[in-house]
Amino acid sequence: MKKIAIFASGKGSNARKIIEHFEDNEQVDVRLIISNKKDAGVLEMGPEFVIPTKILNRKEFYDSENLVQDLKTYEIDLIVLAGFLWLVPAYLVRNFRRKIINIHPALLPKYGGKGMYGMNVHQAVHAAKEKESGITIHFVNNEYDKGAVIFQETCAISPSDRPKDIAAKVLKLEHQYFPRVISKLLTGNT
Ligand code: GAR
Repeated sequence: MKKIAIFASGKGSNARKIIEHFEDNEQVDVRLIISNKKDAGVLEMGPEFVIPTKILNRKEFYDSENLVQDLKTYEIDLIVLAGFLWLVPAYLVRNFRRKIINIHPALLPKYGGKGMYGMNVHQAVHAAKEKESGITIHFVNNEYDKGAVIFQETCAISPSDRPKDIAAKVLKLEHQYFPRVISKLLTGNT
């Protein structure tokens, strides 16, 4: 059984899709939900799906390596960042090399980096009058949005699309592909 920890800062619609996808799966188990925000919607999925949750304290996250032991206690094979907005510290990257993945709501290397999250990304894509956007799933290294790309998918943008329309198209792709890419990575099957 491969075990996942989901890290999320927000409402957690991707986390929900991932949890639902693997709910009755015998090869992959969502073992832990971690958030840096105590009022994040994603934490409500803990009791709902009977998954332990943990809230990160910024000082402990950056100034200690305690989290590594927690993740090892849960025997985590893959850390999945699903809308997690804090930079992953170097000790975590070092201990989980090529075992941390992130989803980004644009076609990296465009529209990535610090401050490029959520609607900021879609507003920038809209302002640049791009004809397409999409999703990037990539390994995480010590810089925002710079790790090796695992998967990308595109969607067309029409001239009348507003940033919120682009956001909706991109989120649909995320929900469609993120669980399948995780499955492929961990089991070889989608
Ligand atoms: C997703 O669109 C994800 O790509 C984005 O946050 C959203 C989380 O939505 N992540 C980033 O922008 C990271 N730079 P969710 O909480 O509904 O899953």
